[in-house]
Amino acid sequence: MNDLVLVTGGAGYIGSHCALALRAAGYLVVVLDNLDGGHEQAIRGNGVEFVHGDLKNFQDVLGVFRRYNVAAVVHLAAKTEVEQSMTVPWKYYYNNVYGTLNLLSAMLSNGVDKIIFSSTAAVYGEPKYTPIDEEHPCCPINPYGRTKLIAENIFDDYYRAYGLKSVRLRYFNVVGADELGRIGEWHEPETHLVPNILKSLFPAQPDIHGPRLGDFDEDGNEIKRIFTVYGNDYNTKDGTCVRDYVNVLDIASGHVLALRYLLGGGNTDYFNLGTEEGNSVREVLSICEKITGMEIPIKISPRRAGDPAILVANNSKAKAVLGWSPEKTLEDSIKSAYEWEKILHRGLSGA
Ligand SMILES: NC(=O)c1ccc[n+]([C@@H]2O[C@H](COP(=O)([O-])OP(=O)(O)OC[C@H]3O[C@@H](n4cnc5c(N)ncnc54)[C@H](O)[C@@H]3O)[C@@H](O)[C@H]2O)c1
Repeated sequence: MNDLVLVTGGAGYIGSHCALALRAAGYLVVVLDNLDGGHEQAIRGNGVEFVHGDLKNFQDVLGVFRRYNVAAVVHLAAKTEVEQSMTVPWKYYYNNVYGTLNLLSAMLSNGVDKIIFSSTAAVYGEPKYTPIDEEHPCCPINPYGRTKLIAENIFDDYYRAYGLKSVRLRYFNVVGADELGRIGEWHEPETHLVPNILKSLFPAQPDIHGPRLGDFDEDGNEIKRIFTVYGNDYNTKDGTCVRDYVNVLDIASGHVLALRYLLGGGNTDYFNLGTEEGNSVREVLSICEKITGMEIPIKISPRRAGDPAILVANNSKAKAVLGWSPEKTLEDSIKSAYEWEKILHRGLSGA
């Protein structure tokens, strides 16, 4: 009998890729999602069961455990917009912390004691050194990161008190899409660099940043959308911020390995999922130009508060303990993200 895994947030970007990878690895998958940020289309036809429910509603969560024989939980459901978390922090604490407490209560009352948790590099805060390993101090600088660290602390306390075992995966910047074009990144609004660069290449979508490439002014002249780069005076290779971009398929395989580890008797622990490679914003832009064959004009604006110069993972612990190793390059990720953007654009514009 195959183990059944509950994936919270499985209709979202990373969750839908994890659900597919878990199915491919032979697990039965039930997705619980309130569709606040996810899309039912992201799981439709993918061989997973879908329960429309909210982690903030204890009866919704309990109902899933009563109905299904859950062996372990992969918990991705969260509100994830860093800037929004600074203006409406209560939503983040309510959803991400209270929702997690409900989930854990339902798990424990049904004898389920294994969970994989989506954590983030944001738990580290301003880096004191780089690459960042798991022993780096955790000092998140925004409410989003704090909700994730609070959840991690709860897992530690629940392990000591109730024996609940967790693997917390601290992802760095997740990019890319399913290479068959079934699913991809689909946030509204989109706050991540790569999809925003790619979106700027498609006309006639809701425009939050100004004119788009391919738009025309009254005289028929093409209006070039100017992509804003925040800060070019960082102490990095070309002055722009450097991040560790990890492919969503590698992230999904990390969840499969983490699940096998826990189900195979592995202990409660936490791991970075990153590539150990840093790419600057300028480098990302130039790979996007190469892959799309389009020029992307930029303008430089002042630095944004809270953007560290460099965030790169040390991933040796995940390699050594989980046997995880990222396989995709940033070019692979941008290629699949571009193919996905085309599909999304065709779907959204009805073309
Ligand atoms: N995208 C990244 O680069 C990144 C980096 C680090 C960590 N993470 C973490 O990975 C996880 C997934 O991120 P994503 O980018 O796929 O986000 P996403 O918004 O696409 O997916 C989150 C999903 O959770 C669901 N959800 C939210 N609150 C819920 C609730 N109370 N009950 C039920 N469902 C709920 C949403 O509807 C959505 O489908 C999040 O926990 C996020 O913090 C993401």
